[in-house]
Amino acid sequence: MRPLTAHIDLDALRHNYLQARQYAFEARAMAVLKANAYGHGATACARALRDLAPAMAVACLEEGRALRASGIECPIVLLEGFFDAGELDEVITGGYWSVLHTHWQVDALLERLECWPQHRITALVKCDSGMHRLGFAPERVGEICQRLRSHKGIEQILLMTHFATADAPGSPLLTAQLETINTLRRRLDLPGCFANSPATLGVPAARHDWVRPGVMLYGVNPLESRHTLHDEVDQVLRPVMTLESRIIAVRELPTGEPIGYGARHVTRRPTRVGVVACGYGDGYDRHAREGTPVLVEGQRAAIAGRVSMDMLTVDITELPEADIGSRVTLWGRDTSGAILSVSEVASWCDTIAYTLLTGILPRVPRCYHGGVSDHSSDTGTSS
Ligand SMILES: Cc1ncc(COP(=O)(O)O)c(C=O)c1O
Repeated sequence: MRPLTAHIDLDALRHNYLQARQYAFEARAMAVLKANAYGHGATACARALRDLAPAMAVACLEEGRALRASGIECPIVLLEGFFDAGELDEVITGGYWSVLHTHWQVDALLERLECWPQHRITALVKCDSGMHRLGFAPERVGEICQRLRSHKGIEQILLMTHFATADAPGSPLLTAQLETINTLRRRLDLPGCFANSPATLGVPAARHDWVRPGVMLYGVNPLESRHTLHDEVDQVLRPVMTLESRIIAVRELPTGEPIGYGARHVTRRPTRVGVVACGYGDGYDRHAREGTPVLVEGQRAAIAGRVSMDMLTVDITELPEADIGSRVTLWGRDTSGAILSVSEVASWCDTIAYTLLTGILPRVPRCYHGGVSDHSSDTGTSS
């Protein structure tokens, strides 16, 4: 069997969720499981969190349906709401909480609720407090809430917003967004739902009354390195995904020899090269620069040459013990205990940890470890 595997540590996921809850103080934390739980497998992650999380959040009804099919019964928040009115019957009757970010959604929901007099739904009214992606202008939110409040099919309204710069300390945009949304929250006297991971960790004024941690659940520190809490958060979170493979061939090259496509790397000394079973056809980023770190049996080594579809090449000259069969950790926690953070790898690829995690393709088997719930029916294996 090809040795590349994404090991998913569900105990670490639970640990990180509990950390989010602690940072959230009195706010409740919905677990954000969209994009297949950031590449980790939504079903297994949801089951592992179901005794802890009072609600879960996904991007769309299709993702919510997959959670329902796997036995998840808590409210599931649709972070962009419904995409067409044809979804509404299922949204209303299926225990979903819908974000409303545009007028047609409000009209369609209120109209469709007339057909379901026995059902009530929680609506999250999204305010564009300054990010200018989704949401109503702050001055329009009052009238939307007024309409919703007067309909008996609306069980509860949460005021929602999203921050553009919660990871950056002292951001003037964040200050402005907080001022806008908290003023509105007080004026309308509504419970809030504002904070993503960085705001949950570092922005106390955003912790009303629900928080929406995503990436931190998977062990990624979302704060900028100059943030005062950055190092503390590094200590607290545990990586959930470990992407692991093995060396499948070793080449001994003299000085001046090229390695891989485009001959990007030319040896500057006699070099031992380990060929690793992992490539962009698995979702590993082809933009990984010369020097991108990996762990070989827990020891650091560096990528030499371009990443190809099924393989990448690593300079193992300094690791004489490394050979065919040696374990290679592309990111995560090596079995020796050494950690290579996905954020560090991402910085070598000029991207962010989110894209690397969500980019791991179905071709890569997920192997689940720990967690309290039964996840034996997932597509991955468990231990
Ligand atoms: C609306 C919304 N809420 C919460 C999150 C979670 O953000 P993070 O992964 O940074 O915690 C996202 C992620 O993109 C989002 O779009």
